[in-house]
Order: sequence, then structure tokens, then C-alpha cells
Amino acid sequence: MSGDGLAANTRLLHHPYTPPPGFAGTTVPMHKASTIFFPNMAAVRNRDWAFKSTYTYGLAGTPTSYVLEERLATLDGARYCLLAPSGLAAITLVNLALLKGGDHVLLPDNVYQPSRDFVRHALRDFGVTCDTYDPLNAEDLAARITPQTKLVWLEAAGSVTMEFPDLAGLLQVCNARGVRTALDNTWGASLAFRPFALHTPDGAPLKLDVCIHALTKYPSGGGDVLMGSITTCDAELLKAIKLRHLQLGLSVGMNDVEAILRSLPNMALRYAAQDQAARNLAQFVATQEAVTQVLHPALPNAPGHAHWQAVCGAANDDAGAAAGIFSFVAADWNAQQVDAFCESLQLFRIGYSWGGPISLVMAYDMEGSPARHRLASRHVIRLCIGLEDVADLQADLAQAFAQVARHTP
Ligand SMILES: Cc1ncc(COP(=O)(O)O)c(C=O)c1O
Repeated sequence: MSGDGLAANTRLLHHPYTPPPGFAGTTVPMHKASTIFFPNMAAVRNRDWAFKSTYTYGLAGTPTSYVLEERLATLDGARYCLLAPSGLAAITLVNLALLKGGDHVLLPDNVYQPSRDFVRHALRDFGVTCDTYDPLNAEDLAARITPQTKLVWLEAAGSVTMEFPDLAGLLQVCNARGVRTALDNTWGASLAFRPFALHTPDGAPLKLDVCIHALTKYPSGGGDVLMGSITTCDAELLKAIKLRHLQLGLSVGMNDVEAILRSLPNMALRYAAQDQAARNLAQFVATQEAVTQVLHPALPNAPGHAHWQAVCGAANDDAGAAAGIFSFVAADWNAQQVDAFCESLQLFRIGYSWGGPISLVMAYDMEGSPARHRLASRHVIRLCIGLEDVADLQADLAQAFAQVARHTP
């Protein structure tokens, strides 16, 4: 149909101009869509919702999200990647795709609590049972695997208590029993270690089935975006997870995808800077009279330190790599003193999450947590290090410790 006889709005909507190919710039072009046009009906019939050889509908992605997925797959050393609306959505999606009524799932005793809550409450309603295991003890995991166990979650390190698990030992147990494994690798951001290249101490490769990240943390780096990713090397698993993803109607906004594409190239620099600052501050916190435990896997006395060294130390330099986050316990502090410490801080803001530019503090009451037995008190204070100058942060911590000491009878 010639455009000449058409009304102005129709001509604008069906404008024939397409820009010349060959444009190149620093950023990935932004493509937003719910509807995606097909050239003909054969293309509709041949659409590929699983492996990104074509486009189908906004829920299955656009060129912008395809690019982010490919970059994240490369970072993890995986073949496939799928984006989810948050880190927690990535976790729940894996559970919903891989588990069914009658199955049993195992979680580390220090697992991210909303992940445990989903399994214990939501999945229980669908007939899935769960149990926790000690992530520092592969024999404990082995003893808890039953014929119904269809998935074992791993988390390195625990996001509040920071124990680095015996990843090699745990994977060896699961691989030997043929049980699928999924790792929450948010802490390592695939910079501290490569999740799909893990091996035994004598170099035998270990199989990990699925890796998830809360991109909300380091990949975003801004404290302003929620997103998650799921990676795998297994095409059948990718299909199963992607099918559930479509059935649940999960999608991510392309503005958020663009924000992460912009932050990703500087993530390694931020990660290293926040790691260094966190280690300096963890050492400072360890010198404080009130402090009983400093929970940072790179510190020699922390639970899981040897496992951290084995997995994160060798691939880099002797110092290894770690996220810029740690916790501490002041065993003699009561709940009021814990609150007073958090509220005395001026630069550290009270808030959840990590990996952003502003340093954060959060207090956790671990009573009732299966990880409580490794702690000197029920109260744990977590510090997430941002991008402020480390001397300013140290001075802030020092004045908060002094405030609590002043008001301690
Ligand atoms: C270890 C870990 N996994 C997953 C999540 C969930 O990420 P999101 O906040 O994007 O849902 C978090 C969030 O704090 C986390 O700490």
C-alpha cells in the first residue's frame, strides 16, 4: 500500500525509514518491546523461545537482554543465561523448575533467609520437603541426602554469617549421588572464583548444574536496580527453567538491563576496591575490645577460611578475592547496644543489600537460625562496604564503638 493516501498518524506509525546498518558506539543499543513483529507466518511457526536464535515476545527478551545474558554466561563460564526480576526470583524459579511434589531439597544452614522461607513455606504447600545441612561438613550433607533429594543448594559464602563452604567436598558428594546442584554465587560475582570450573584438590572437574546471581549487588553496583540471573551449561536444564520462566510471566525491564550493561565493565574494579577496603576494616573491627568474632572468610580464624583459600586464593594472587562485606559479633552486647551501634554510625546507612556505593549496616537476630551454633551471640552485625574513603569509614566505626562503650555500665 502506498503511503500517500494515509492519514498522518497512520503514516507515522508505519513510517518506512530504517537507519543505515553499521552504527557502532560504546553502549549496547536499547530495544524495548512487548510485541515483536514477525516477517511472516513461517517465522511465527519456527520461533525459538529457548535458545535465542529468533525473537518471539517481550517476555522472552530483546537484543538488549540477549546481550546481557551472553555477557553474564561468559562471566560465569556457562553456556546459557536467563534473566529474572530479582535475585530471589532467580532462586525461586530454579526451585519451581526443578522440583515437584514428593521431592526433597537441601539447603545450607546459613542460606539467604528468604530462600529458606520460600522452600519451607511456599514449596511445602506443593508437597516439597526440605532440610538444612552444615556447609562446612560434606559428611553431614552426605548423611542427609535421601532417594527423594532432587536438588542441593550451595551458597558461597553465607550472606550473613559468611562461612565459606567446602564447595569441592559438597559437589563431590552430590556428583557421586547424581543429585543436581545449584549455587547462589552472588558473593563471588564470578570474580572470586569461576563457578563452572570448580575441581577437586587433585584437579578432577566437578559438575555444577545451575548458578544464580543477585545482579542487584555487584553487577548493578548502584543500589538502584533489582535483577537476577540463572546460568547453566546444560541445554535441557535451560529449557526446563526457561519454560517455567515463560509460564510464570517473569520479565525484566530494559532500562534496568541497560543500567547493568553500563555497570558490568567496571564491576571487577569496584569489587577489588571494596574487597580491599572491607579487609582493612575487618582487621580494624577485630582490634576492638567489644568484638568477639569477625566473620570474613579471608581472615584466618573465620569459619571456612581454608575452603575460601582453596577456591578463591589460588586463582588470583596469594591474597585471593572476596566480596566487600563482613559481619561481627560482640558477645556481651545486648539488643539495645547492637541498635545503638548501628544508629551511631554516620556514614554507614541502615539498610539491606550490598555491592552498592553507600556503605550499609544491618543487625540480625540469629536466634532460631540453624547457623546459630557457630556464633558467640544471637546478635550479628553486618557491614557492607561501599565506595567511600576507607579512612572515613574507619573513623565512623571507631566513633560508633566509642559511643556504645560510653553508654555501657
Ligand atoms: C546471597 C543472596 N542471594 C540472593 C539475594 C536476593 O537478591 P534480590 O535482592 O535481588 O532479590 C540476596 C539479597 O540480599 C542475597 O544476599
